[in-house]
Amino acid sequence: MQAAKRARPQADAAPGGPRRPLVLIINDHDRNDDCDSVDPIIRSTLDEHVELVSLARATELAPATPVEAVLTLCHAKVDGALLDLLGGAVRVVSNYGVGVDHVDLDACTVRSIVVGHTPGVLTEATADMGWALLMAAARRIPEADKFARGSGYTRYQNMIYLGRAVAGTTIGIIGMGRIGTAVAKRATGFSMKILYHNRSRSEAGERDFGAEFCSLDDLLTRSDYVVLVCPSTPETRHIINAQALKKMKKSAILVNIARGPVVDTDALVAALQTGEIDSAALDVFDPEPLPRSHALLKMSNCIMAPHRGSATIEARAGMAQLCIENLLKGLAGEKLTASPEC
Ligand code: DGY
Repeated sequence: MQAAKRARPQADAAPGGPRRPLVLIINDHDRNDDCDSVDPIIRSTLDEHVELVSLARATELAPATPVEAVLTLCHAKVDGALLDLLGGAVRVVSNYGVGVDHVDLDACTVRSIVVGHTPGVLTEATADMGWALLMAAARRIPEADKFARGSGYTRYQNMIYLGRAVAGTTIGIIGMGRIGTAVAKRATGFSMKILYHNRSRSEAGERDFGAEFCSLDDLLTRSDYVVLVCPSTPETRHIINAQALKKMKKSAILVNIARGPVVDTDALVAALQTGEIDSAALDVFDPEPLPRSHALLKMSNCIMAPHRGSATIEARAGMAQLCIENLLKGLAGEKLTASPEC
């Protein structure tokens, strides 16, 4: 791994040799971190350069020995209050993942903290996941799987678990960045008409995949599959709300591989209950995870995965490498390899 060969960042002198910079690791939603449970690749690579500490340990050590970097491996909030607890020496927040909606970028900027993330290395894995969810919902795979294992499956029946066509239908992609474009590429293999809605036009999407730029309303009314791939921002919060769901076809399937807050969860429950849309396939939730008693968990027309978009062995290795590289560059005061727009 290239990152492992980088020069050790500046460390304070300490008896017995230079001290490795302290890095707060956030690996647990409640920030009760056990550094031993961190991905062994990340741990073993970083051990040479830095000392990973939990929040409890970091707050014990600050301000005398402050944390110099934060490594976020999950979606726990990183805000001004947390950064202030750490003793004022943080120079970089490195996020293992492309979405940084859980990191308060303004709070980082005012504290001169740079933020890194891991785009690119997870694009194909996440688009594959979107496609897997779309196909699974279209062909009702989870319901059929359950039936195929049960005692009721004793003979062939031609009219059970009928799904929806995918090939030749219309897909509407909301968010035409890297992952949205990779979803569009897959749709061409299924001879689908591709509509997209995005902040700006996607030259590559239009040129390479014949994607048609359209308004949100136009996309919602014309699509058989609506796939959410946009970042979670104040502008995209509840972009799929009760009004949007009403505009969709009754036969439409909604796929969310973006972030939970992009969809109004209550409105989605109502739309699925009343048949306003056919079904939904969700990899992300609001709140995430949903309470175990939530209505969506009981609905057969909503299929789910526990935020697995980039969860392949290959993507995880790339994410580990990139977030380590960003972390070490940030500590060394160098320009990060990948940084979200602030
Ligand atoms: C991402 O890359 O944003 C994934 O959701 C994992 O955080």
